[in-house]
Amino acid sequence: MTVDRRDLAVRAAVEQGLLTQEQPVTALLDVAGIRSSVAALRAAFAAVTDAPVLHAFAVKAAPLVPVLSLLHAEGMGAEVASPGELALARAAGLPPGLIVLDSPAKTVAELREALGLGIAVNADNWQELTRIDNLLAAEPTASPLGLRVNPQVGGGSIGALSTATPTSKFGVALRDEGAREQVVRACLERPWLTRLHTHSGSQGMALTRMTQGVLAVYELAEEINSAAGRQQIDTIDIGGGLPVNFASEEHTPAFAEYAGQLKERVPGLLDGRYGLITEFGRSLLAKHGTVLARVEYAKSAGSRPIAVTHAGVQVATRTVYDPLSWPLRIAAYDANGRPKAGTGVEQDIAGPACFAGDLIAENRPLPLLEAGDVVAALDTGAYYFSSHYGYNSLPRTAVHGFTTAPDGGVRFATVREAQSTEAIVAESGGAQRDALLG
Ligand SMILES: Cc1ncc(COP(=O)(O)O)c(C=O)c1O
Repeated sequence: MTVDRRDLAVRAAVEQGLLTQEQPVTALLDVAGIRSSVAALRAAFAAVTDAPVLHAFAVKAAPLVPVLSLLHAEGMGAEVASPGELALARAAGLPPGLIVLDSPAKTVAELREALGLGIAVNADNWQELTRIDNLLAAEPTASPLGLRVNPQVGGGSIGALSTATPTSKFGVALRDEGAREQVVRACLERPWLTRLHTHSGSQGMALTRMTQGVLAVYELAEEINSAAGRQQIDTIDIGGGLPVNFASEEHTPAFAEYAGQLKERVPGLLDGRYGLITEFGRSLLAKHGTVLARVEYAKSAGSRPIAVTHAGVQVATRTVYDPLSWPLRIAAYDANGRPKAGTGVEQDIAGPACFAGDLIAENRPLPLLEAGDVVAALDTGAYYFSSHYGYNSLPRTAVHGFTTAPDGGVRFATVREAQSTEAIVAESGGAQRDALLG
């Protein structure tokens, strides 16, 4: 989101009543920004290969039906990792041929459903492969089938998001003793196994390491195809993971940079023999989302100013629990939604939850915030407000998409309504009030 577009949207959100005393927190998504990121992704891969590429958005990054529908309209598919995510992709109108199911703990019922629908499935491990063997013996499927491998190329700067460590829970650990031979054998025994999948990690991974992971999977595909004497592996799913620059407005690294590295270091992958799947999430959405919250109180403790706002752990869970890995930029606006001027004063931006660590920024120099002002938590379009955390029974925030007109007018469309208090009671067993009374 450019600064200009964001400033217009914040002002309009206040003027059009999206952020009020009754609704003191809301979230915005920049539709034009999302479209431009999809275009950049598609152009980056089209520039390096003529092979078919399915860009499957990682639904976990923004599990919102209108967002999936927008991405589909822009030519994308979906990568899903749970029955809920699959249901969202289908609700958004995606056909089975554009959906890929990956997850480390698929039940037999989930596998049966996916195979019945013809959705692509990447098996995570040997036991899952055996389950698929059994399902296929009972009924044929149109699903393209693959195997996820962990190239064990090492982690990135955020351990929790590093999926290619030696002991990661994901996929078949390729460098473990005997594993490579077992993968080749398993493919030769199963002519329907036509895909390999890897996802080396997300935020915090260096591009060179991601590329190394893709290279390892490409070399494995070549080995399998040579042992099979035909191109059995016809598609390689390279996962997502392009990191996001949370420190500035820059969209770096760019999709084109990653595609360029793949072209340089894994040229055979892009020479037209292999179809490709990508599964980017954060890099497509993060920069296009903003959380807006009113400052309810401005106080001070131990001479530290604290703005107590309505944006905390429910919308910025990772930042609150792991602030060093997930720092967020904060922009300050006045009560009318205009950028707030003033010299920077170090202050905390606190959330509404009842624990001391519920801070979305600590000791951050910003114009001194007052009650009624508005704070914006930037770059929160992926894995933040879309993945609500229900601590303190705080409601899911509303999400509004916006577009701007050349005259500066801003149009909002509701992506998700704010959760009502009644809905919170209902999902908290409200209808079972007497269930424990014997
Ligand atoms: C299998 C898989 N694919 C894609 C992604 C999306 O990663 P990112 O949002 O970093 O692009 C993830 C994230 O956890 C994943 O586990």
